[in-house]
This record gives sequence, C-alpha cells and structure tokens, in this order.
Amino acid sequence: MGHAAADAARVEPAARISGRLRVPGDKSISHRYAMLAAMADGVSTIEGYLTGADCLATLDCLRGLGVTIHHTPGGAVTVHGRGLGGLTAPDRPLDAANSGTSMRLLSGIVAAHAFRTVLGGDASLSRRPMRRVITPLTLMGARISSQDGRPPLTIDGARLHGITFQGEVPSAQVKSAVLLAGLQAEGETVVIEPVGTRDHTERAFHAFGVEVTTSDGHISVAGGQRLRAQNLTVPGDVSSAAFWIALAAGTPGAEIEIDGVGLNPSRTAMFDVARRAGARIDVSATNVGAGEPAGRIRVAYGTPASFEIRPEEVPGLIDEIPALAALGAMLPDGAEMRVSGAAELRVKESDRISCLAAGLRAMGAAIDEFPDGFRLRARPLTGGAVDAAGDHRLAMAFALAATRASAPTTVLGASSVNVSYPGFFETLESLTR
Ligand code: S3P
Repeated sequence: MGHAAADAARVEPAARISGRLRVPGDKSISHRYAMLAAMADGVSTIEGYLTGADCLATLDCLRGLGVTIHHTPGGAVTVHGRGLGGLTAPDRPLDAANSGTSMRLLSGIVAAHAFRTVLGGDASLSRRPMRRVITPLTLMGARISSQDGRPPLTIDGARLHGITFQGEVPSAQVKSAVLLAGLQAEGETVVIEPVGTRDHTERAFHAFGVEVTTSDGHISVAGGQRLRAQNLTVPGDVSSAAFWIALAAGTPGAEIEIDGVGLNPSRTAMFDVARRAGARIDVSATNVGAGEPAGRIRVAYGTPASFEIRPEEVPGLIDEIPALAALGAMLPDGAEMRVSGAAELRVKESDRISCLAAGLRAMGAAIDEFPDGFRLRARPLTGGAVDAAGDHRLAMAFALAATRASAPTTVLGASSVNVSYPGFFETLESLTR
C-alpha cells in the first residue's frame, strides 16, 4: 500500500555523529502547563509547547471542554483559562489519540466536573490499563465506566472529596490524576509514593500559585485553591535528548551538544546509566524557569562497556529504556545490557519488551526476554526492515541502531515519531553529515 510505503524511513549506516542541537519541548511538562492553564483564572502563554501529536491531543480535548486556545505566529500557545471547576460539558467524545498522559490526567480533571465526559483514543491507547486511575477517582466520588478497565472511559463527574491514596505501581500519571482531582475536591488529598516519580505536576502547581507539599513520599494538596494564569516556557524534552545521548555513546568518535534541555532530577537517571555504558557526559544547568531546571548536555563517545539497569532505577528512566536498548545493541560485539523490574514496559504505547526484542533481534542483536525485562547481547548489526509497532520511541530506537548496521535499514511506522519528536529524522540526518 502506498500509505505503508510513505510511512517508512530509510536509515543509512553513519560513520560519524556530531553537532549541536536543541530538542522539541518536554511532553510531560507541555501537557501539564496546558491543563493547568485551562483551569486557571486569566490567559496563559506557553512558549516551547511541544507540537507532537500527544500534546496536540491534549489541546483538542481541552477545546472540547470549552477552552479557547490559539497558536501564535511566534510559536507560542495561548490558553484562555476557565477558572477552577469552569470547564463545560463536551458535545462529543474526547479523543486522546495515542496519549496515555492526556487520558489519565484529563480523567482527574473532568472527574470533578458534574457532567459526562467520554474519553477515547487510538488502538494502542485502547489497550492500556486505566483501572489505576478509575480506582482512586471513584473513591473520590466520580462514576466511571470502561471496557473492562480500558478506554473508552465514560466519566460522570461529581463533587469530589479528598482521599489518601497509594497506587500499586509507581506512576506519575496516576499521581497527577489524583492531585488534579484533589485540587478540585473538598478537603485534603494525599498521594503516597514509596518510589518517587517525575514531579512536574507538583512543580507546575507551584508555578500556577497552588500550594502542594511533599514530605517523606507524601504529596498533599488542599482542594479549592485557585490557579493564576502564567507566562511559561517549556524546556526541551530530556527523553528526546536521550536518543542523541545514546547515539553519541554508541558511535566511535561522536560528540554532540544539546542546549535548552530540561534537567529535572526526576528525569535524568539515564545519564548515570549512559555513563556506566562508557559515555562521557557533561551537564550544566543554566536556568530554572517556573521551577524546572534546564541547561546544556555535552556527550562524547568514551569507552563502551556492558551495563545493567537496576529495578530501583526504572521509574526514573522508564521512557529512556528504548534509547538505552539501542545503545546496548550498538556496543561492541559480545557486550551485554540487562534490565529487570520493568514490567511496566509491557503496557506502554506498545509492549516495549517484546516489540523491542523483536525489532533489535531482526537487526542482528541477541535478546532474551523476561516478564519484567530483557538481556541483550550486542552482535554485528545488519540492515533490513524493522517494524516500530506504531510506537514513537521504538521507531527512534531502531533508527539509532540502524546507523551502526552494515547496510541500510527501513524503519516501518516511522511517522509515529511525530507523537513526541516531530523532526527526529531530519535531526538524525543533520548529525550524520
Ligand atoms: C508520564 C509518566 C510516565 C511516562 C509517560 C509520561 C507523565 O508514565 O512513561 O511517558 O507525563 O506523567 P507512567 O506514569 O504510566 O509511569
């Protein structure tokens, strides 16, 4: 089919990787700024908003809830806040497309509005588990029906009351859904996190004037606090930068510099792993905008080595495992990479354990799959065709590995990179010149 052919990228082996670049805005932070701006009093301006499909889906859903949103000619997004509790009933089902963050966080927001919202998504999102948000939001007073715990969700919002909640898996999306509902609930809401996850929601609350406290893994917010509109800038996405870090770490002689990238400590665990894999990484924070640190990362090829990702590291780098797997596959023949304690990978945009294994195996790596991880042994990579399984991070991971193959590689489903990284293939090309 012509469509399938158009949705493939051919990646050539690359002898050198070098350059200086910026990455598009952070996906997690973009979603949160748009959602909080929609709930705020006044008009917010967001610079650097990610125009990837996921974050555009959030804007579309917010429009469906009565929020006026514009893209300015200068590339900013303006959001006309409707005030706390001020969203209006959608007259159509909202489409979160491929975006788990949109669906889970918006569930927390609409659960506190006394109308019905139907939230659906694409085939991948429709397979993903939603009980993790249905359970706490139901405890708070919403009524939610689903297809056996999966989308679409039909949410009948209500006046909510605060709860104290501890989820079964570490998840920033679940924490955020509960905190967003808690902000609109009566009384105090506390989320208990035995293992910390990305804290962008807490930082964004502060930026919009909401008091939230974190102490000893307990994150607390009092309901009824109003948000004030803000002018904010989204830093570059460190999860996108991770692909270039992995590429430089796996390419002899490589040297790259990435400017303006987010350096929130809850997101940078992959730097340590890449260092253990032999990369030379130098990080310097240059500014803190709205409580989110950002700066420059320099990465150079060093002394490649086998590496392991430990279970306790997984929540801090869950989205970077595809990039790190690509690095594993690019290591010298016989070197190994292992990851365990990462069963959550199976319920991401694809089953990232079996789809990563299938793809990298097709390219020549040896991989043993486990329920909660995998062990990869680097072997000479061959070109060929590899399927990204509709998953943006797999498309990018396979493209990295393809630069080290002995022949060109066709990455099928390459357009999925637009979910989080429009322009990925153009930047890859520019780094190989
Ligand atoms: C995200 C949290 C993580 C991550 C996802 C974005 C967020 O998901 O994988 O890409 O923005 O809160 P979980 O909360 O399901 O771990």
